[in-house]
Amino acid sequence: MISLEKVNAGIGRVQILRAVDIEAKAGELVAVLGANGAGKTTLLRTISGVVPVWSGKLLFDGKSVIGQAAHRLAQHGLVHIPQGRQIIPMLTVEENLKIGALHMPGITSEEMARRLEREYQRFPVLKTRRNLAGGSLSGGEQQMLAVSRGLMMAPKLLMLDEPSLGLAPQIIERILGALSGLARSGIAVLLVEQKTMVLDIADRAYVLKNGAIVHSAGAAEMRDHGELFRHYLS
Ligand SMILES: Nc1ncnc2c1ncn2[C@@H]1O[C@H](COP(=O)(O)OP(=O)(O)O)[C@@H](O)[C@H]1O
Ligand SMILES: [Mg+2]
Repeated sequence: MISLEKVNAGIGRVQILRAVDIEAKAGELVAVLGANGAGKTTLLRTISGVVPVWSGKLLFDGKSVIGQAAHRLAQHGLVHIPQGRQIIPMLTVEENLKIGALHMPGITSEEMARRLEREYQRFPVLKTRRNLAGGSLSGGEQQMLAVSRGLMMAPKLLMLDEPSLGLAPQIIERILGALSGLARSGIAVLLVEQKTMVLDIADRAYVLKNGAIVHSAGAAEMRDHGELFRHYLS
């Protein structure tokens, strides 16, 4: 679903990603692990078309998407849930969810209602909070809202930037469980994280250091040989 080949990218004149090769297929949950400053956010922003690709190939669903605007990519099913969740605090939970699907071309009110109900089933707490301001939710609930808002766009590729940040382990497990279910339903999930607990649910994983992929393996293998890569994460 997404494939990067030898991607070099940067901000201004500063190179951040160096010859990055990454791939995630439909139905696969792929984790990219890296310490603070490794380039995880830049990686997702590059795939989303926010940070320019300097050279290399970036294919989404078999087509090059270099130079395409983020909102166009989202309409084609490439959805990015940014670091820090970025829900709209003054709007209600339901309004935040509806905003997710608003810009999808040709969406009917029936389809909107169907997607809303699907998200309320995924995270029932969002249904009980549907008329409360997004900003009044707990951190975990806000992350669920951010995930559900992304899913309102019916993505083919869902990218998440450190969804576990600042959350209690139980809540993280709840969210990772939902992501695992999404991959099983056929969506490609690309998750960037500092926490190695994502290896419990990922199929494959990469380690990013100083903007370069320094290790790639099946998630189980990486978890079992943790000492090999642990120093890259600190
Ligand atoms: N807007 C920016 N301008 C210049 N450098 C940046 C900018 N954003 C991030 N960087 C640098 O790029 C590197 C990678 O940052 P980032 O992708 O945010 O890493 P991570 O998400 O893994 O913590 C860091 O060295 C950071 O200082
Ligand atoms: Mg980051």
